[in-house]
Amino acid sequence: MKLPDGPRTPSLLQTLQLVAQPTDFLDRCRDRYGDPFTTRVLGLNSPPVVFFGEPEAIQEIFALPAKKLDFQVATHVFQPLMGDRSVILQEGRAHQRTRQLLMPAFHGDRMKAYGQVICEITEEVTSSWKPGASVLIHQYMPDITLSIILRVVFGLEPGPRYEQVKALLSGLLDDVTTPVFSSQFFFPPLQKDLGAWSPWGNFLRRRQQIDELVYAEIEERRANSDRSSTDILSMLIAARDADGEQMTNQELRDQLVSLLLLGYETTAASLTWAFHWIHASASVQQRLQEELDGLGSDRTPEAIAQLPYLSAVCSETLRAYPIALICVPRMVKETLNIRGYDFEPGTILIPCIYLAHRRPQAYPNPTQFDPTHFLDRDLSPYEFLPFGGGSRGCIGTVFSRYEMKLILATILSRFQLSLSDNRPVRPVRRGITFVPSSGVPVVIHKCLSPEC
Ligand code: HEM
Repeated sequence: MKLPDGPRTPSLLQTLQLVAQPTDFLDRCRDRYGDPFTTRVLGLNSPPVVFFGEPEAIQEIFALPAKKLDFQVATHVFQPLMGDRSVILQEGRAHQRTRQLLMPAFHGDRMKAYGQVICEITEEVTSSWKPGASVLIHQYMPDITLSIILRVVFGLEPGPRYEQVKALLSGLLDDVTTPVFSSQFFFPPLQKDLGAWSPWGNFLRRRQQIDELVYAEIEERRANSDRSSTDILSMLIAARDADGEQMTNQELRDQLVSLLLLGYETTAASLTWAFHWIHASASVQQRLQEELDGLGSDRTPEAIAQLPYLSAVCSETLRAYPIALICVPRMVKETLNIRGYDFEPGTILIPCIYLAHRRPQAYPNPTQFDPTHFLDRDLSPYEFLPFGGGSRGCIGTVFSRYEMKLILATILSRFQLSLSDNRPVRPVRRGITFVPSSGVPVVIHKCLSPEC
C-alpha cells in the first residue's frame, strides 16, 4: 500500500533532525513532500510516522473510533510519573469514564469560582517587581500557574503541605527537563533503583514523597467533606460515574498528579510566549493597553475574560508557536483510510498542530504574529487546534484560556514592561512544551498600581 511521500534518509538521522530542530524539520518536509508526509522519526527501525496538517485530514482522524487506535505509543513515558490510572494512559471505556468525571470541574460556570483566586495569586507572585528592575518572565510564570493549580485543583491553601508539594513538583519538573534525567523515562532498562543517589532511585523517592502528601490530602478531604468547596479534588471526591461508582484513592492520585503536571507548565509556557509577542510589537502592546484601560473600574474577571483583543492575542499566541507541536500520536490497530490513503496496523498518525497553524489558506502571513487572524473570523477546530481535539482533546482548554487572560490582564494593568533583548527568539524544548529560547527578559518601567 502506498504511503504519502516523505524523506528517504536513515530513520536515525530523521529522528535526530526532529529532536534537534523540530519546526525546521516539519517545515522542510511539508515544503518538499506536501501534506501529509511520511517520516521515520522513532529511532532505529522506526515504523512509518505520518504527519497531517490539512483540516480535512485532521477532522477525519479526530472522528475515528478510539478502538481503532492505540494512544499509548507516546504517552507510556508518563506512566512512572502519572500512574496507570491517569486519564492520559487510559483507553476505551475507562478513559471515557474518567473524562466524564473530570470535565465538569473544568467547565463554563465553574470558572467564575476560580477568577478571583487567579488574579490574587498573580498579584502576590509579582508583588516584588519594582520599577527599574529586570525580570525573566519564564521564571515567574510557572510559579504563578503552579500556585493556581494547587489552589484550584487541589484546594490547598498556603501552608506547609502546599509549600512541600510545590517545591517537590517544581524540582521534579525542572529535572525532567534535563536530558540525563528525562532519558530514563524513554529507556526502561535505565529504570533501576540503585539507591537514593542513582537517578531512578532518586526519582522513585521523590515520587514517594509527593504521593504521601497527595494521599494524606485525599484522606483528610474524604474525612471532612465540605459540600461548599469549589476545588476540583472536592468535586472529584463527590463525583459518581454512570454506575454510581466513586473514584478510588489511587485513581484520584493519578488524576491529580496528571492534572498538576499537564496543567501548569503548559499554561506557563504559553504565557511566556504571550509576553514575548506583546512586547515585540509596539502596535499590539498599545492596542491591548488601550483595551485594558477601557475597562475603567469594571475589572472583574468576567469583564476581562470577554475582552475581544485580549482574547485574540491569546489565540494568536497559541497559534504562532503552539507549546505542543503535535496531538497525541495514534497507532493504527486496524487498517483504515484517511484522505484516500490506506494505513496499515503499526503506522503512526500525527495530527500536527504546528503545520495546521502555518497554513496560509487559514492564516495570511502565517509566520507573522498578528492577532487580527482571530478578529471577526470563524476558524474551524481543525484549523486552530492548540488544545488538540477528538476523544483526547485537552481537558483544561477553557480553564487555561481563562487563566491566560486573567494573568496577562493583571500584570499588564499593574506594570509597564519592555523586552530587554530584541533578538529574534526560537522555540526550544522544555519538559513537555516548547518555550521561547530567550526566556523573555523584560525591564519594568513603571508600576501602575497604587500599592507600588
Ligand atoms: C495553554 C495551556 C495548554 C495547552 C496548549 C494544552 C494542550 C494540550 C494538548 C495539545 C493535548 C493533547 C490533545 C490531543 O492529542 O488531541 C492536551 C491534553 C491534555 N491536557 Fe492540556 N493543555 C493546556 C493546559 C492544560 C490544563 C490547564 C490542564 C488541566 C489542569 C490540562 C490537562 C490535559 C489533560 C488531562 C490532557 C489529556 C486528555 C486525554 O488524554 O483525554 N491541559 N493538552
